[in-house]
Amino acid sequence: MSQPTVFIETYGCQMNVSDSELMLGKLAAEGYAAVQSPEAADVVLLNTCAIREHAETRVIGRLTELRRFLKPDAVLGVTGCMAQRLGPRLLDSDSRVSLVIGPDGYRALPLLIEGARKGERMIATDFDLEEHYEDVQASRFDGVKAWIPVQRGCDYRCTYCIVPFTRGSERSRRLEDVVRETQRVVAEGLTEVVLLGQTVNSYHDGARGFADLLRAVGAVPGLRRLRFTSPHPNDFSDGVIGAMADVDAVCEHVHLPMQSGSSRTLRRMLRRYSREEYLDCVARLRVAIPGLGLTTDIIVGFPGETDEDFRETLSAVREVGFDDAFMFKFSAREGTPATRLPAEMTVPGDLVDARFDELLKTVRGIARDRNFRRVGERCEVLVEKEARKGELMQARSREFRTVLIPGDKRMIGQYHHVELTGTTGSTFTGQIVRERTPLPVSS
Ligand code: SAH
Ligand code: SF4
Ligand code: F3S
Repeated sequence: MSQPTVFIETYGCQMNVSDSELMLGKLAAEGYAAVQSPEAADVVLLNTCAIREHAETRVIGRLTELRRFLKPDAVLGVTGCMAQRLGPRLLDSDSRVSLVIGPDGYRALPLLIEGARKGERMIATDFDLEEHYEDVQASRFDGVKAWIPVQRGCDYRCTYCIVPFTRGSERSRRLEDVVRETQRVVAEGLTEVVLLGQTVNSYHDGARGFADLLRAVGAVPGLRRLRFTSPHPNDFSDGVIGAMADVDAVCEHVHLPMQSGSSRTLRRMLRRYSREEYLDCVARLRVAIPGLGLTTDIIVGFPGETDEDFRETLSAVREVGFDDAFMFKFSAREGTPATRLPAEMTVPGDLVDARFDELLKTVRGIARDRNFRRVGERCEVLVEKEARKGELMQARSREFRTVLIPGDKRMIGQYHHVELTGTTGSTFTGQIVRERTPLPVSS
């Protein structure tokens, strides 16, 4: 038989992107070739997300759409968080799906595909707390930066969140294994690494914590940029912040999910910090890391959110002055504690919409003002890819700002010093400038 082909479509967070790279790596080792369109593939996998209802409806829609152009004998599989959450229900609701695999089941992918090819309907949704796919070489999509998972699962139990149900308990990889993977990607020519975990700064491998990990990974020769996502405010110990400040490669950017600026709402979300503690965490980070870029996640319309609660979110947004935020309307997830709050606490949809619009305007307005003031500043950028428009390349500063600069594809992976020449309010344009060469030290 000719070489079997696989197509993977990825939804959700970077952890899923990283898992897709692992799945492709696993299948490549078994002789599969990756293809860029579902029509051509013997195996089509949707690596799915369950975080909000909308994420799941997109996948259901896509499954229906795919039926029309799959090869007749293609295996269609659903993997990831939605697969874990719905399990057999996915097989029952869609006769074309013959493979359902949760995030801890990818090691058996070739065997499960084999079963599905023979006409069986295969399902693997057991958790495996030992599973880190240590011996699987990821097939990386990105030629500039590497996603490196350091922790799987989550031991927080935020009351709105499905992730503890779809990814199980928290466990960390051994520090040596993370360092080895970093060395490998640097040897392959990548110079930026993003450490991944749901609460990445609670990393602990039994002997070493996140501060040790930052120091060890940051010491890998050739690594120029080290990022991580997403940290939890409660796990920013002085030791972790100290390591961030000390290690040159650690970028001056933190994505610090706030969720709400109201202590009352935070308590009901079981976020385990108050408004004041969140703001204190921001202040400690800013003192230790001058020029820090800060982004966040915010949920509006959590059950019981009053106007006053929402005003507190707006005021916290103003107080911090985030560079950007991902904003979400609360979505009730089956089985999560938030669904057991009394029905009368539900915030009506039109009120959620109005709050969302106001939050969006506030966040964007603050970011725009800050960004206009930054025009004229200089920074170092790493060129990531071609920009969507014009002859421009998309590059990123250490603070996570997007800067579009003139150039071509050959620049991908290069570092340049730029002057920020303009801004749309969210992204920048820049011109390459020559870095002032330091004067030689006289002997
Ligand atoms: N582990 C990360 C977040 C992972 S989910 C952390 O704790 O920071 C990414 C974001 O989705 C969350 O930060 C939250 O803002 C949002 N989110 C999670 N569950 C949600 C829900 N049920 N409804 C709306 N937004 C949700
Ligand atoms: Fe979900 Fe909370 Fe865990 Fe983040 S920390 S994954 S929001 S339960
Ligand atoms: Fe979605 Fe799972 Fe990530 S629910 S956000 S893909 S951990």
